[in-house]
Amino acid sequence: MKARGFTGSLFDEAAAAAPRYREALAPGAVLLRGFALDAEKELRKALDRIVASAPFRHMVTPGGYRMSVAMTNCGEFGWITDRRGYRYDALDPESGKPWPKLPAVFLDLASRAATAGGYPGFVPDACLINRYEPGARLSLHQDRNEKDFDAPIVSVSLGLPATFLFGGNDRSDRPRRVPIRHGDVAVWGGPSRLAFHGIAPLKEAKHETMGRQRINLTLRRAR
Ligand code: SIN
Ligand code: FE2
Repeated sequence: MKARGFTGSLFDEAAAAAPRYREALAPGAVLLRGFALDAEKELRKALDRIVASAPFRHMVTPGGYRMSVAMTNCGEFGWITDRRGYRYDALDPESGKPWPKLPAVFLDLASRAATAGGYPGFVPDACLINRYEPGARLSLHQDRNEKDFDAPIVSVSLGLPATFLFGGNDRSDRPRRVPIRHGDVAVWGGPSRLAFHGIAPLKEAKHETMGRQRINLTLRRAR
């Protein structure tokens, strides 16, 4: 198409939908730099409400290891781990009540990020919320407790910077070390849906709006 025939409104629409900066991580996997920044205030408000009814807690792996990352959930299903295994549950085991609802601001961001990442129509039913304080880490793992792997994973970073480890489909594939910052959103699916990933130990620091922590929202389709 000739540039002259390209109307302003079409161009503006495309520009508005495009992330400020996109980095390819692997086939089917992208990092959308700063994609969540516009929604930061609303995300934090929603987070405060969730954490007030389902506080962060350190869960235990089936092997008996207490995780350094503190977790909670919102959505129809929450990801949990204890001595009985890893799984999704509609109830918070601490309170016996359903997890807080997925706020509209989470759903909207997840859907926009998934679309920008090449996965239109994403409707998550689960959001794992991770809190890393300096020293906390998440070892390499695959997200594979979901019923099927058609839907992508959308992962939103807030607060302190971290090193995202993004590997391949085999545990032995050497992971890339990707610096991620406040407001970045990673999306992976398709050929990368089962990629091994993790977070290197968080460095000591203080973020100007989030304090001495990194919060990560992992939006998924569990069922
Ligand atoms: C996760 O894999 O559950 C979280 C990854 C992250 O904190 O960025
Ligand atoms: Fe994960």
